[in-house]
Amino acid sequence: MNNSNNQTASEIVIFGALGDLSRRKLLPALYQLEVCGLINEASRIVGVAKPEHDIEAFKTTVIDNLHKFVKEKIDDKVLTRFINRLVYQVLDFKDSNSFTKLADTLAAGNSTRIYYFSTSPVIYGDICKGLNHANLIQPKDRVVMEKPIGHSLASSIAINNQVSDYFNENQTYRIDHYLGKETVLNLLVLRFANSLFSNNWDRNSIDHVQITVAESVGIEGRWGFYDDAGQMRDMVQNHLLQILSLLAMEPPADLSAESVRIEKLKVVKALKTIDKDNIKEKAVRGQYSDGFLEGSAVPGYLNEEGAKENSYTETFVAIKAEIDNWRWTGVPFYLRTGKRMPKKHSEIVVHFKKPPHNIFKDSYSDLPANKLTIRLQPDEGVELQMMNKIPGIASQMRIQENKLDLSFSDTYQDQRVVDAYERLMLEILNGNQSLFVSRDEVEAAWIWADSIIDAWKASGEAPKPYAAGSWGPVSSISLIARDNRQWVE
Ligand code: BG6
Repeated sequence: MNNSNNQTASEIVIFGALGDLSRRKLLPALYQLEVCGLINEASRIVGVAKPEHDIEAFKTTVIDNLHKFVKEKIDDKVLTRFINRLVYQVLDFKDSNSFTKLADTLAAGNSTRIYYFSTSPVIYGDICKGLNHANLIQPKDRVVMEKPIGHSLASSIAINNQVSDYFNENQTYRIDHYLGKETVLNLLVLRFANSLFSNNWDRNSIDHVQITVAESVGIEGRWGFYDDAGQMRDMVQNHLLQILSLLAMEPPADLSAESVRIEKLKVVKALKTIDKDNIKEKAVRGQYSDGFLEGSAVPGYLNEEGAKENSYTETFVAIKAEIDNWRWTGVPFYLRTGKRMPKKHSEIVVHFKKPPHNIFKDSYSDLPANKLTIRLQPDEGVELQMMNKIPGIASQMRIQENKLDLSFSDTYQDQRVVDAYERLMLEILNGNQSLFVSRDEVEAAWIWADSIIDAWKASGEAPKPYAAGSWGPVSSISLIARDNRQWVE
């Protein structure tokens, strides 16, 4: 993870430059890097898309979107510098011959080309063929792929094969934007820069872990995409498994891509299989019905715009994940994620074991366990719940549960919270793959996820309903209650 601006000049070629992701995230992220002076001055941004725009219309669209999606005030000088980097190229992605136009556009010089596929994965293969046809792939070029990479193991292999026919693994950057989030990266620091935690991070000290990624939004007009994916493919197979891997992996030798990815992969491979024999005990899927959020009525999933009359697609998942290895045997990781939950709220709670014997029974009959809460978003921070003596002269010792609270917004008041895409873009420009997902990781994650999805399908049961604005179906409470535990609300 290298923040220095030691990058060579690049041609940043965004396929799908007028799409949602590019407008909302990629171009604003590049603009912010411009503000920080982190883009090589000779680099250009080449927007590639189908509509017959001219460059002036493209520039106007980009400026409008920067005003819309960059939170800070736009700096006119920086904007001019940024806009001067823009180039626009009309292309039919499916027609290899049209890629010769792109070849004319790309500088003949020595720049590294970064091909960002911000399109549906269905056409990744066509784009690669076109680039190859126009002789546009050099060994130093890079390709960036967005999730979801596939719909299952088989389709993910097919997509990865289409790309790997033209690009090596060390040229390939697979995005999981959670790996660019400050608080997710901070997991590495928390675990490996604090011996307090690194020495107590295993089955001897930890009782269980809860990971919650709750969203208040619904499917945001994306019925077509979402109904085909569901929360398991959209969030668990990638974002939640990445968080789990960083939390549970062995200490990597260093921060290089190779060291970190190998350790993360081992975690995913050690996950116990969930299939038709244990699905009822280990996993719950839910679908939101009509409900209320922040005082307003919101429609259920089946009443969303574009909805089919019936669909078994899950909008909520809770899983008891178990890692079958030396460090974690017997320590469940409860995962929970859903749309239309009461608020946007993502956190990890590590529940340590209770003290083995209570010498404070007179004050506290049942000593609670220490809890480490890592607030991922919003209100980023770290919190440690611990017992403390209440000051006072009373002969009987009185104790109380209190918390140490490290709020990032209070502690780092003059630091801007960097968007995940800014960091990831910078790492791509600098050629560092640590924060990107390896092919092996993607495929191992699909093996585990496919088995759960198949088991749900085979059961023929509908997802359990939960009212929009609630914390999920009742059976997700039972999932953890069966182990005499409860979700932290
Ligand atoms: C995306 C999913 O990958 O992550 C979306 O496709 C989801 O459905 C989003 O809403 C959540 O990202 P964040 O950064 O808002 O937590």
